[in-house]
Amino acid sequence: MEKVKSKVVVCLPGPCPLDYFDVFSSRVSKIIGYENNKEILLIQNSQFNHIDRDVTFNLGDILDSPVRKTWFYDFDFCRTILSVDKSKFEKFRDCNFSSTFCTRYVGINNTILILLRIMKEKPVSITRYSDGTIDVISDKNSYHCVSYKENTKSASMIHILKNFKN
Ligand SMILES: C[S@@+](CC[C@H](N)C(=O)[O-])C[C@H]1O[C@@H](n2cnc3c(N)ncnc32)[C@H](O)[C@@H]1O
Repeated sequence: MEKVKSKVVVCLPGPCPLDYFDVFSSRVSKIIGYENNKEILLIQNSQFNHIDRDVTFNLGDILDSPVRKTWFYDFDFCRTILSVDKSKFEKFRDCNFSSTFCTRYVGINNTILILLRIMKEKPVSITRYSDGTIDVISDKNSYHCVSYKENTKSASMIHILKNFKN
């Protein structure tokens, strides 16, 4: 996330927002958080006084966020891509974003192919490396992916960063 060039980041801060915000460089001047679970939103708001950045925590679906090409979106869903509302997700296809999905039951390749289909892109090449990273080139964009095991839940995950060559 150090390489994020946008000044505005739309994201899912989750239950540990302070740790999460550390991953963004000081170039990021505004963070717009979304959370659809009221209990987690309460936790986020309870930590508000410890945050020294311009942050807003919003109750609701991140996929209802305004679409701005100059903003960066971190869709850290940590759920399978099948559970994401595709009709809402596709409107972000011209934006820069990263996204994290659980690959259980769906698999790594299918997760990538479904993402490309949602974004209305055609795969050109998918190169998998022994260290768990994957480079994806589509007819419109490039994506750098890292597959890993989530320690606490031992779930298989994939983190996908769009336009890694820009
Ligand atoms: C995996 S956590 C985020 C972790 C955080 N990004 C980090 O790295 O520490 C995902 C959070 O987003 C919430 N969430 C998942 N999907 C959402 C959606 N579509 N809109 C709003 N909140 C969502 C979940 O309740 C959860 O608190």
